[in-house]
Amino acid sequence: MSENTFYITTPIYYPSGNPHIGHCYTTVACDTIARYKRWQGFDVFFSTGTDEHGMKIEENAKKAGMEPQAYVDEIAARFKKLWAYMNISYDRYIRTTDDYHKSAVQNIFKKIYDKGYIYKGEYSGKYCVPDESFWTESQLRDGKCPECGRDVIDAKEEAYFMKMQPFAKRIEKLLTETDFLKPSARVNEMVNNFIKPGLEDLCVSRTSFKWGVPVPFDGEHVVYVWLDALSNYITLLGYGNNEYDDMRYWGNENPAEGGVAAADTVMHMTAKEIVRFHSIIWPAILLALDLPLPNRLYSHGWINFGGQKMGKSTGNVVDPFVLGKRYGVDAVRYQILRDMPFSGDFDFTNEIMLSRINTDLANDLGNLVSRTVAMVEKYFDSSLPSEKTQNNEQDSELVSLASGLKNKTDALISEPQLSASLIEIFKVISRANKYIDETEPWILAKDEKNKPRLAAVLYNLLETIRICSSLLAAFMPTTMPKVWEQIGASEDCVTHENTGKWGILPHDVTVKRGEIIFPRFDVAKEIEALSALT
Ligand code: ME8
Repeated sequence: MSENTFYITTPIYYPSGNPHIGHCYTTVACDTIARYKRWQGFDVFFSTGTDEHGMKIEENAKKAGMEPQAYVDEIAARFKKLWAYMNISYDRYIRTTDDYHKSAVQNIFKKIYDKGYIYKGEYSGKYCVPDESFWTESQLRDGKCPECGRDVIDAKEEAYFMKMQPFAKRIEKLLTETDFLKPSARVNEMVNNFIKPGLEDLCVSRTSFKWGVPVPFDGEHVVYVWLDALSNYITLLGYGNNEYDDMRYWGNENPAEGGVAAADTVMHMTAKEIVRFHSIIWPAILLALDLPLPNRLYSHGWINFGGQKMGKSTGNVVDPFVLGKRYGVDAVRYQILRDMPFSGDFDFTNEIMLSRINTDLANDLGNLVSRTVAMVEKYFDSSLPSEKTQNNEQDSELVSLASGLKNKTDALISEPQLSASLIEIFKVISRANKYIDETEPWILAKDEKNKPRLAAVLYNLLETIRICSSLLAAFMPTTMPKVWEQIGASEDCVTHENTGKWGILPHDVTVKRGEIIFPRFDVAKEIEALSALT
């Protein structure tokens, strides 16, 4: 068994509309971490998928005049197309309508039932007769059905419930005594709002809709969506089925006691609205199954649009295909990762996106690469001299910043502080641009006897670009190899180990001028064009 496995998951998305830039955020963030960890040498497994059962999907399919299966087939295909377009390097895509998952969920339900944690009871709530749907008090809109606006009545239906109390102490410990939930501000929210008042038992079956996994020993009931959905994280590894055999990625820390998987073993990522399901209900399910608990849940904020959460139901979605086509997939990946703070939301606007792309990518990084390569071409006919160059005082700050960058980024990625790691990398890029102004290579080039110094300056710039672009490759996987080609960095030069070292490029490195890696956009023109599209 491999010692250094790393398993990372996105939520499985509801296929109830087109995927938008909000879904992209979580998926691109997970992809970046997965790529970075693979580069560090971890044995990585990265999963994503679609959550295809439940009343909502059943209703949406009906509205579209389709059978639920045909309906989810179509939308799941759109998600897969978007992930291919965004260069998402997932290892497995799970659909909860996959046969292996459905039978595994039945096995899970039966196992928890046999252990005495699931019992039959009565679900009572607000019922909309014409819609045949149950709602909780908090879901009602002005006391009426949130779907159709009609009156609701108090009603009861038979349902299975899972006991939560037996797990409350263990879950509280997980939240308060480990590093499991990030950002840590969410810990108090969970403990004070849900654990302290006493965990309520979880309804795990329904009889009011049919589009779901049947309860194995009671055909009138289907498994309620959250038990079905959360289980995906283990069924896709082979838990409860014979389709796959990858449970080694789940970690093996004190399974019988539900120990927490070792650090850097299992990372879930979701946005904040489903943190309760992932930080309380999911651990309870795992404890009921005698499985270890994941060691990290990162619950990020929302991408808002005009002050509202971007979402399918609000209709304010931004289409990632449109942005990718106009600005490049890597630029879109960079912008959303850079602008989402670790805790908190961010308001997406076309202006912010364009100015971020222009400032960081076109001006700072793009210019650094093109200026440096152009100078090596101009002053040294593309190849630096073979003598080892000598550094002086003027170089020490840049050299030490660039050499220490890998360790900083490694630590930040594990948190996972993606925006902060980009800020650190771009600090070094800005420092390198300043170094060009300070060293004035164009003045050095005027006098032949300054040639060794000029070569040293340009070598230092190329090394800085090598280090920064290696660290950025997980964020922007298409563009960084183009940078390596321009600065003459072979595969060996951009390994994780060598990114922590200075002086890796050969001294007589040969550069090759190429296309502009990040073009600048005319903000006013683009805003006009984008508005015309909506
Ligand atoms: O909740 N900003 O699916 P879902 C940031 N099926 N992230 C966003 C976002 C936004 N505006 N909009 C969506 C479900 N997301 C369940 C999950 S998991 C076992 C079951 C991302 O389609 C974010 O990751 O509503 C959020 O948690 C998820 O999509 C919700 O996707």
